[in-house]
Amino acid sequence: MSSRAIRILAVSVPVLLLTAVLVWHYGWLSPGGGRGAIPIGGPFTLVDQNGKTRTAEDFRGRLMLIYFGYSYCPDVCPTALQIMSVALDSLGGDAEKVTPIFITVDPARDTPEHLKAYVANFGDRFVGLTGTEEQVAAAARAYRIYYAKAKGDGAKDEYLMDHSSIVFLMGRDGRYLAHFTHNTPSEEMARAIRERL
Ligand code: NI
Repeated sequence: MSSRAIRILAVSVPVLLLTAVLVWHYGWLSPGGGRGAIPIGGPFTLVDQNGKTRTAEDFRGRLMLIYFGYSYCPDVCPTALQIMSVALDSLGGDAEKVTPIFITVDPARDTPEHLKAYVANFGDRFVGLTGTEEQVAAAARAYRIYYAKAKGDGAKDEYLMDHSSIVFLMGRDGRYLAHFTHNTPSEEMARAIRERL
């Protein structure tokens, strides 16, 4: 081996080893699943639109398409829910393998009865979830969703909520698979779901 080759090896081997260790440690190659990566998702206990307590365990064995928002949202939430609905419709019979879930970040106004009427606007597949302030906060924390009442000077019950707008695709084991925004075309969302059916 030439001294030049030895020099190249002396530099590149430690660099490669260091890279391998960092990739392994931070899970750079497997978003949401790698060692050291903060997992998205987790257990939750909430109440559905029929007043029934539901936990994350209830949805095991099916894919979940989860969106956090609130029913009084003027534009972003309806857009996201509409895209989810169209994406699922385009899957035909396979849509049965996916549960679309809308989790409110505004439990004060989004009672089960209110959610029931709201999610019905997007078809009959949606599970609408609400709960106590604490239950909702815990679920949002698990999915790293930010939300807060927007500053405004409307009447007490007329306020907007600021909130992250992300649609999560979760696996049959409840683990994170992919995410979309409310601007993701429904065809793209459907394609990503179909790959995991
Ligand atoms: Ni919204």
